[in-house]
Amino acid sequence: MSTTLTLEELTGQLAALEKEASQAIATAVDAAALEQLRIDLLGKKGRLSGVLGAMGRLPGDQRPLVGQRANVLKEQLQALLQQRQTGLRQAALAERIAAETIDVTLPASHVPPGHRHPLFSTTDAIVDIFCGLGYRVVEGPDIETDHYNFEALNIPADHPARDMQDTFYLPDGQLLRTHTSPVQIRHLEQHAPPVRVIAPGRVYRRDAVDATHSPVFHQVEVLAIDEGLDFSHLRGTVTHFLRAFFGDLPVRFRASYFPFTEPSAEVDVQWRGRWLEVMGCGMVDPAVLEGLGLDPERWSGFAAGLGVERFCMVRHGIDDIRRLYNSDLRFLEQF
Ligand code: DAH
Repeated sequence: MSTTLTLEELTGQLAALEKEASQAIATAVDAAALEQLRIDLLGKKGRLSGVLGAMGRLPGDQRPLVGQRANVLKEQLQALLQQRQTGLRQAALAERIAAETIDVTLPASHVPPGHRHPLFSTTDAIVDIFCGLGYRVVEGPDIETDHYNFEALNIPADHPARDMQDTFYLPDGQLLRTHTSPVQIRHLEQHAPPVRVIAPGRVYRRDAVDATHSPVFHQVEVLAIDEGLDFSHLRGTVTHFLRAFFGDLPVRFRASYFPFTEPSAEVDVQWRGRWLEVMGCGMVDPAVLEGLGLDPERWSGFAAGLGVERFCMVRHGIDDIRRLYNSDLRFLEQF
């Protein structure tokens, strides 16, 4: 029962479809809705196919006309669908970019900043004071030869001073340095006086661990060589340094003995009512200078050595050296 259709009716249908479809495409909310529209409009059982199917009921000569129009509409709708798809994609991207914007003014989640270990801030403070006096920082190796660690410092084999500085020996006869004094020798071998240097570093001794001993600890060595240096320069420099570090405290020098200095002294500061020994020092022994090819009639100088742990413990009131190596944050965070 096929009713005949007029050309007007069919072109009218096409025009209505065009209007309706363009509106629907323009307002499709997302890619899925758009795809559904494409199927509804252009699919095998879609609206356009419906119109084309109805074409059979037109008189034969009118069919090409409608067919042509339908094709134009098809291409038009395809273009519109494509356009809308691109538009939707761009909008989705813009929305995503806007949503993912980082607010750089937001406070960060808390990361504790950390700080220098008290041993190193102590070394820094010591170095700062000497740099203020024109001293330069130099370093030497932790693994030393017997020559630099002992011989060149006027401590020959069998010298009793070696007893107090037993250390760890490597199979090849080298050793872990027992003090920073070998840096004096290394520096003077490479640099003609006048010199003013300090040498911070790690040192090693065969000591059992207790509240005041550690087999690995830190020293700072001081060395000044020039023409005309005497004990008053040593005394003035060391006193200035100790007052700058500890504050305006009484300082005293006691006669002592080190193989590489003559005369030698030990220095105490009066800290909280007690005399505390804090460093060793002395005038560089002429034998040490001669060993380096320096004429002791022309050149003289002084040297000093101190333990960083001791300075750190006195300054902060720390009672046990082991606390400095335990990496216990509850302890370290105080400084
Ligand atoms: N090297 C000595 C030690 O470790 C400390 C020392 C004493 C260094 C007197 C010096 C000095 O430069 O003059 O026990």
